[in-house]
Amino acid sequence: MQAFVFALFLVVGVAGAHDVANVTLDDSSSNIRYFGKWIKSTLGQSPLNYGGAHAVTALTNATAVIPFDGVAVYFMSPKWPFDMKTQLRLDNGPLELVDLTDRTRAVTPNARTNATESLQSQVVWSKKGLSNTAHSLHVSVPPGYSFAIVDAVIYTTLTGDDLDTPLAPSSASSDTKKSNVLAIALGSVGACIGVILISLAAFFYRRHRRRQEAQRVANWAQTKLRPLSSEKYGVPSKA
Ligand SMILES: *[C@@H]1O[C@H](CO)[C@@H](O)[C@H](O)[C@H]1NC(C)=O
Ligand SMILES: *[C@@H]1O[C@H](CO)[C@@H](O)[C@H](O)[C@H]1NC(C)=O
Ligand SMILES: *[C@@H]1O[C@H](CO)[C@@H](O)[C@H](O)[C@H]1NC(C)=O
Repeated sequence: MQAFVFALFLVVGVAGAHDVANVTLDDSSSNIRYFGKWIKSTLGQSPLNYGGAHAVTALTNATAVIPFDGVAVYFMSPKWPFDMKTQLRLDNGPLELVDLTDRTRAVTPNARTNATESLQSQVVWSKKGLSNTAHSLHVSVPPGYSFAIVDAVIYTTLTGDDLDTPLAPSSASSDTKKSNVLAIALGSVGACIGVILISLAAFFYRRHRRRQEAQRVANWAQTKLRPLSSEKYGVPSKA
C-alpha cells in the first residue's frame, strides 16, 4: 500500500509542478513576422536598444506580428526625447497606445528631427494572466503618429500541467485548455484511485480466499473431528 500512496504523491506532485520561463525575442528574431517595409534603426546601432538596434516603420499599413505561446508578454522599447507612441494589439483585443516619450528630458517641438533614442530599453507595456495558449502581438503606427517600433518582446512560457495557471475567463480556447488541464488532473488522480482500488480489491480477494480456505479447513475439521472435539473439549452443539 505504501508504494501506491507514494505513487499518488508523485503524480499529484508532477501535476502541480511549476515550470515558468521567459523567452526574449530581439527585433531581428526570425519568430517576428514583418509585413510591409520595416527598417533597422536608421541612425545606427545604439546600446540603448535591446540587442543594439530596433526595427522601425513609418508606413501606416505595415505591421509586425509576434506569435507566442505563453501566459504573459512584455513589450520592450527605448524612449525618445519627443512625443512618440506606438500601437499594440494583443490577439483580437483593442488597439493600445504605448507612450515611448522620454519624459526625463524636455520635449522640444523640433526635437523630432533628432530621432536618436535617449532612454535605455525597458518594459513599456505588459499583459499578464493570459490563458496558456497561442497568442499574437501586433505592432503598428498609431493614427496621428509617425512610427511603429519593435525592439524586443519577452514572453513567459508555462510548461507542465500547472493547476495554478491563471486562465482568462472569456475566450473559448482558455476554457478548452482549462478542461484539458482538469481532464489531465482528473486522469492522473483517476489513475491513482484506480491503482488503489485494484490493489484494495486484490487485498480483499486474497483475504477472502484465505478466510475461505480457513473456513474450508474448519468445516472439514468440524465434519471429521466433531465427535472427538465436542466430546473431548465440550464444544457447544448448535441447536
Ligand atoms: C519575465 O520577464 C519579466 C520582465 O522582465 C519579469 O517581470 C518576470 O519576472 C520574468 N519572469 C520570469 C519567470 O523570469
Ligand atoms: C502601403 O502604403 C505604401 C505607402 O502609402 C504603399 O506604397 C504600399 O503599396 C502599401 N502597401 C499595401 C500592401 O497596401
Ligand atoms: C540628439 O540626441 C542625442 C542623444 O540623446 C544627443 O546626444 C544629441 O545632443 C541630440 N542632438 C540634438 C541636436 O538635439
